[in-house]
Amino acid sequence: MKILLNCAMSVDGKIALPSRKETAISNREDLERVHRIRSGVDAILVGIGTILTDDSKLTVSEKYVKVVKQPLRIVLDSRGRTPPTARVLNGQAKTLIVTNESCKKIFSGADVARFGKDRVDLKALMGHLEKSGIGTLLVEGGETVMWSFFRQGLVDEMSVFVGSMIIGGTTSPTLAGGEGFGSLEDVTRLRFAGCEQLGDGVLLRYEVVK
Ligand SMILES: NC(=O)c1ccc[n+]([C@@H]2O[C@H](COP(=O)([O-])OP(=O)(O)OC[C@H]3O[C@@H](n4cnc5c(N)ncnc54)[C@H](OP(=O)(O)O)[C@@H]3O)[C@@H](O)[C@H]2O)c1
Repeated sequence: MKILLNCAMSVDGKIALPSRKETAISNREDLERVHRIRSGVDAILVGIGTILTDDSKLTVSEKYVKVVKQPLRIVLDSRGRTPPTARVLNGQAKTLIVTNESCKKIFSGADVARFGKDRVDLKALMGHLEKSGIGTLLVEGGETVMWSFFRQGLVDEMSVFVGSMIIGGTTSPTLAGGEGFGSLEDVTRLRFAGCEQLGDGVLLRYEVVK
């Protein structure tokens, strides 16, 4: 299974405001690109933090893509905190909520899978998705989930849109949160794969060195 990661950040590497509130970092050109990528993958994955702050729908919009194909929406939600009113449960596409093995919650409008004792066991989940026929997975955030995917060496390719703005703030979420790598030997190394101007911003593309 191929794992792609995509996000939008400010020039100072922040992916949202210090309050964690979503902010429009992507411009129209980038949104078109994101919806095109979404429509070409089998599944899109985010963490519960993103659902609680942004109430993301994770669907492909007809506004940006001519032939709409809705990928599976996946939420990492160990403790089953996805609210029943969350837009990711709106029925516009299939949704899979992934909890840990001790969470007994069920969700109207979503299937449930359970992996791991505490947080979701990503490697077990990736194995399950692959067996279920998911060939490409798009990881869209937030900072804790992106960190987990990097730390476990699961990302193959990433694209980052850099919006022409500074957000600042030591508490603003960044592209990779978590505890960070402790030494230079451990950092995730990237191979530059191209860049282009998108409107007033820049798109950077990388492959992850494995
Ligand atoms: N600019 C962008 O492109 C972009 C995109 C998406 C999000 N964002 C921003 O990112 C912020 C949200 O980031 P966040 O870090 O708070 O939330 P997050 O990364 O979306 O979700 C993190 C949560 O997922 C759950 N989880 C379950 N299994 C996990 C695992 N194996 N690894 C990591 N997490 C796991 C954990 O909660 P439990 O322990 O309760 O399960 C964890 O706290 C928001 O400010 C949002 O606006 C920005």
